[in-house]
Amino acid sequence: MGIRIAGVGSYAPEKVLTNFDLEKMVETSDEWIRTRTGIRERHIAADDQVCSDLATSAAEKALAMAGLSAAEIDFILVASISGDHVFPSTACVVQSKIGAANAGCLDIQAACSGLLYGMEVASGLLRGHKKYNNILVIGAEKLSMIVDWEDRNTCVLFGDGAAALIVQKTADDEPLFMASEVKADGNYGKILQLPAGGSAIPASHKSVDERLHYMRMEGQEVFKLAVNGMVGSCRKVLDEAGITADQIRWLIPHQANYRILKAVASRLGIPEDNVFMNLDRYGNTSAASIGLCIDEMVNDKLVKNGDYILLTAFGGGLTFGAMLLKWNM
Ligand code: UT7
Repeated sequence: MGIRIAGVGSYAPEKVLTNFDLEKMVETSDEWIRTRTGIRERHIAADDQVCSDLATSAAEKALAMAGLSAAEIDFILVASISGDHVFPSTACVVQSKIGAANAGCLDIQAACSGLLYGMEVASGLLRGHKKYNNILVIGAEKLSMIVDWEDRNTCVLFGDGAAALIVQKTADDEPLFMASEVKADGNYGKILQLPAGGSAIPASHKSVDERLHYMRMEGQEVFKLAVNGMVGSCRKVLDEAGITADQIRWLIPHQANYRILKAVASRLGIPEDNVFMNLDRYGNTSAASIGLCIDEMVNDKLVKNGDYILLTAFGGGLTFGAMLLKWNM
């Protein structure tokens, strides 16, 4: 059997929040945000748009490109840290909205590495089970809901969006998935977290007063670990596949900060021209970011079959990893 990407789709909410808009909200400047992060603007969902709405819009586009009906989807995996509810899962809500009556549904909580984890699970499901043929992998975030808009250390970084990929079994033997590593180090959980709302700190007046329902981050620590984690995983998958950095057509890193992306590329010896970035227009959209890149690249015809594409990500958990694809669409 082979595996291919049968369809991709993405959705970014209509409202755009620029760095100049942020200057009016917290003590910051367009210049600081651009030079420290590379971000110029981000999309922000409307009050009545929930995470599953963004996910559904992206999924419908991916289904249309694949020429599949929702009933043909065997599994829906939604990677998110800003889903509609603690439960039911956002995957179940998406299932209902698109009418994918035959799908198993599972949310994946691996923060910014969510899409990589989702692709890893999809690869395992397709390879391990005859009964699965079409898996819908979605990364979707309404981060604006969990961002502390009074905290300039974090609020300038994040944005909302969603992307969907349909990963499909084929009759040929083109593998798509060449090598992967998805890892975590739970010892560093506290440096990037949303403290309250779970059983550790259930919602209370106190937790609200202390702003514990918003994301907290130790930026510099995350920065260092991000570079080391992504570089290490990329080297592992390249070694495993017997591929060298100069054979990589595109490095698609999780879009966190252009300084992180450049540091990773430089340590891997991948020229900047081969690194895809769109964070200037989206900010950090966590689990959606790699998918938003892939969708844009497919639409702009920047990828062709046979290209080696290296995905890498890092996020809360801590989670990190890399995946080498031989593009097949
Ligand atoms: O998806 C994974 C999630 N997270 C990340 O990838 C984030 C990783 N970390 C980063 O991207 C960077 O650490 C940041 C962009 C968050 C911060 O950049 P930095 O170069 O590490 O800045 P810093 O934290 O060292 O702060 C430098 C200065 C500080 O002022 P003082 O102490 O030097 O006077 C901050 O208070 O910049 C100040 N600062 C700001 N100034 C204007 C922090 N945020 C802002 C802001 N506007 N928004």
